[in-house]
Amino acid sequence: MKILVSGGAGYIGSHTVLQLVQAGHDVVIVDNFSNSQPAVIGRLEALAGRHLPVHAFDLLDEDKTEHLFATEGFDAVIHFAGLKAVGESVEKPLDYYENNLGSTFSLVRAMRRHGVDKLVFSSSATVYGTDQAGATEDRPTFATNPYGWTKVMQEQILRDIAVADPTLRFALLRYFNPVGAHASGTIGENPSGIPNNLMPFIAQVAVGRRERLNVFGDDYDTPDGTGVRDYIHVEDLAAGHVAALEALTSTEEPVSVWNLGSGRGTSVLELLHAFERAVGHELPYEVVARRPGDVAVSYADPAKANRELGWQTTRSVDDMCADTWRWQQQNPNGYDDA
Ligand code: NAD
Ligand code: UFG
Repeated sequence: MKILVSGGAGYIGSHTVLQLVQAGHDVVIVDNFSNSQPAVIGRLEALAGRHLPVHAFDLLDEDKTEHLFATEGFDAVIHFAGLKAVGESVEKPLDYYENNLGSTFSLVRAMRRHGVDKLVFSSSATVYGTDQAGATEDRPTFATNPYGWTKVMQEQILRDIAVADPTLRFALLRYFNPVGAHASGTIGENPSGIPNNLMPFIAQVAVGRRERLNVFGDDYDTPDGTGVRDYIHVEDLAAGHVAALEALTSTEEPVSVWNLGSGRGTSVLELLHAFERAVGHELPYEVVARRPGDVAVSYADPAKANRELGWQTTRSVDDMCADTWRWQQQNPNGYDDA
């Protein structure tokens, strides 16, 4: 298939682009580089062993989006592009609603005009709101912050569009906590500023860019009191997209929802200790207050994806830490070193 990957220069998009190429698909990337750097493209091309066409523009620009679809005949779209920082979404809700909903409108309008019927959409465990433990896909969706609402709303918008045109095939993929990096250590997660998320923060402590990890609370109702999450290696997540895309070519369902997670929970301290094993020494940490809005426990029930996609996670938490550490060590300042 010829696939348009929106947000293909980003963390999850870049790993997925590579697996799509390896699975024999043709890939075209669109990204405005608002949260990624052009340097990733050269590295992707080196890994893929081929040129990757990239269109650097904002999907909110409907004319450019239309022109892209008019000049390239796509079979499917994988839509990663979006803003994703929970805290920032509370500060700048309008930016989040405008960018995340607007980019989806622009893409889906162009798809409809040009007869592209398959879309894989990046959703999140955040759509389960405060009810994220052992989540199955039939749970009611709601959100606790503007970022989360953009995901709930985009899911609903896509469902409504699919009712109006039953020839469409949409996959809503609800990711749990993506971490890790490509085994080469040449592409990985590259947060700008102080990382919001646990794994990149630990990696920056390990490489000496941060003094210590702040553990946000150790009084949750969990085995060691720290928050529990379902970490999924970004390579397993990327494989889930390839499987979902292939499933869309044969399913009768207009909208398919799949959780992508391991089904296992890991606490903050367990992840820290796994990272210490990868690095070979202890890492400094301090327990501080809970972070507002955090749930105690989040993990997927991935049975539906296991059954319907023939997909499951294959990489352990130790693999996730080893691969993150290789990326961080080789690129202490991310793509700024490129
Ligand atoms: P990322 O920020 O690394 O990648 C997103 C990419 O989209 C960036 O390269 C950015 O420049 C681009 N982009 C944003 N708005 C755009 C626009 N209007 N036009 C063109 N390009 C635009 O994020 P990621 O971690 O790779 O996440 C990808 C998707 O998965 C996002 O939709 C995110 O909400 C979702 N998701 C991520 C996580 C996670 O923890 N990383 C968890 C659940 C869901
Ligand atoms: N944590 C710390 N210290 C840190 C960062 C995080 O202790 O410096 C803890 C958090 O309190 C939480 C766990 O580590 O218990 C994981 O936190 P992350 O920020 O890595 O991940 P979240 O589960 O909070 O958030 C992720 C995505 C969101 C998405 C959400 C779905 O980053 O985009 O999952 O619920 F909305």
